[in-house]
Amino acid sequence: MQMNGCSAEKILKKLGKIMGADMSYEEPGILGSMCTSPLEFANQIFATYLHKNLGDPGLWLGTWAIERDVIKMLGNLLNDPNCSGYLVTGGTEANLIAMKAARDTARFDGRSEIVVPESAHASFDKAADLMRLKVIKVPLNEEYTVDIEGVEEAISKRTVAIVGIAGSTSLGTIDNVEKLSEIALDHGIYLHVDAAFGGFVIPFMKRMGYELPKFDFELPGVLSITVDPHKMGLGPIPSGGILFRSEQNIVKSFYNIPYLAGGKFKQATIVGTRSGASVIATWAIMKFLGIMGYIDIVRKCMKLTNYFADSLREIEGIKLVREPVMNIIGFTSNKFSNYKIDKELRRKRWAIGCFPDMLRVVVMPHIQKSHVDKFIHDLKKITASLIPEETPKDKYYL
Ligand SMILES: Cc1ncc(COP(=O)(O)O)c(C=O)c1O
Repeated sequence: MQMNGCSAEKILKKLGKIMGADMSYEEPGILGSMCTSPLEFANQIFATYLHKNLGDPGLWLGTWAIERDVIKMLGNLLNDPNCSGYLVTGGTEANLIAMKAARDTARFDGRSEIVVPESAHASFDKAADLMRLKVIKVPLNEEYTVDIEGVEEAISKRTVAIVGIAGSTSLGTIDNVEKLSEIALDHGIYLHVDAAFGGFVIPFMKRMGYELPKFDFELPGVLSITVDPHKMGLGPIPSGGILFRSEQNIVKSFYNIPYLAGGKFKQATIVGTRSGASVIATWAIMKFLGIMGYIDIVRKCMKLTNYFADSLREIEGIKLVREPVMNIIGFTSNKFSNYKIDKELRRKRWAIGCFPDMLRVVVMPHIQKSHVDKFIHDLKKITASLIPEETPKDKYYL
């Protein structure tokens, strides 16, 4: 940092230049992000309330009330308006808090393992690392959802929690949470559902008439759910949600914070100081869109997903990994290495997801039909130019 400050004009000019290296949601390119452009309305609200700190809620009682209302709205969406919870930095922190709540409940009886599907997000590995838990990964079945028998086999007297995914990161699949709920109740084990992505998609798809499995608090074994406004909720970053069926599920994770200016408070979030602005902006977006607004958005995304999937199917050498469940499409090739395809796509400024055995696009609200057409055009050119391999080496790790 230099000794004397710069003029605002100079800083803005410099920033404009540096920001040129960033991609943007408006141009064709970002096809692999689970975040999207927040509504302009929310951006303004976010900027207005930047100083609000929910780490000290006694000072910001209005903001605290707004957060309670967001939790109630999320609970309404996920079949328990009486649930408790917080808005946190994202799905990672939400999953971490859930695993901690489960671990803390079981802390003194020596349990130390979590049972998760192979499709689980890396946040469960992080949680396990931080809490010295062992992750037992259960393979998926032919539907790419967790193998239920595998879960039963993986459970032992050391199991702290079982995790189900509603909208997996790679394919958007929904685990059989109904069965997981029965298993959790039978064994008296904590069940957490990671609906970071699907929580803002599945309830609306169901209202549109799609037949999708139960996954939320409707199932009695589900004790907590991750649901992220900063993904399909169109909220600003950071806005992740962690919901608990009852405050009892988290009381063992409370820390007393005695020194706060607003008065002492019990915190269960990982972070202390916490953005009130994103909570207020999330509240405003949910009020602004309402159920019908989200249905419109999901309907558009699903229409484009089907168009995208049909266009991919027509490309020689490309196949879908499975029928899309929601606005996420996984595809692969039996002729070319996914790694090489991804590399060529990146050269053309396409940013998609590259998993060990598939490529994946997420059809978020910022994606236009013209982006899809351009992508398909480029992918056709790439596959036509690559030399087919007899056994393409799909498996690679970043
Ligand atoms: C299912 C799922 N859970 C959790 C996360 C982590 O969310 P975040 O990146 O907001 O921490 C993701 C991210 O894509 C996800 O897909």
